[in-house]
Amino acid sequence: MSSQVVTFSVNRLARTLTVSAQASLLGVLRNDLELNSPKYGCGLGECGACTVLVDGVAARACVIPAAGVAGREITTLEGLGSLAALHPVQQAFIEEQAAQCGYCLSGMIMMTSALLARKPDPTEDEIRRELSGNLCRCGTHLEIVNAVLRAAELTRQALAKDPRP
Ligand code: FES
Repeated sequence: MSSQVVTFSVNRLARTLTVSAQASLLGVLRNDLELNSPKYGCGLGECGACTVLVDGVAARACVIPAAGVAGREITTLEGLGSLAALHPVQQAFIEEQAAQCGYCLSGMIMMTSALLARKPDPTEDEIRRELSGNLCRCGTHLEIVNAVLRAAELTRQALAKDPRP
C-alpha cells in the first residue's frame, strides 16, 4: 500500500504525517490526530456529519484524501472556540438548545461558521438552503435554524465591536 508524507495545518498547528493513499482526511483527523468532533456518518459525502473547514470553506472530510490537503489549513470544531471563549456559533447553539443526540452538531456548526464568515446576515431561506445537505435524524431542525439566526446576530455584534477579519 503506497503512503506519503504530508504537511498541513490543523487548528493553526503544523502537522506532518505519513498517510496512506487510501486514507481520508476524516480518518486521519479522528484516528491519527484524535480530533473526534468530525463524525463518520455516511462516508459518502452525503450527510454532512464530517464537515470541517479547508482554507475556510466547508468541506466533507470523509471524501477528501488526506494526501490531498498538503499545505492547506484545516479547521475542526476543536479549533473554532474554547470553553473560555466560545465562538459565536457555539454560543448560539447552546443558547437555543439546538441539539438532541448531538451527532450532526459539529457538522452543522462548521457549516454555519463558514456561511456566516462570508454572509453575516443570511435570511432564513438561505440558512435552510445552506444546511439542507446536513442531516439531523432527531428532527432538531427548527432549533438549529433558530441557532443560526442567533449566531448571525452574535456575529454581527462581534463584528461591530471589532471589524478586523
Ligand atoms: Fe462525510 Fe456523511 S460522513 S458526508
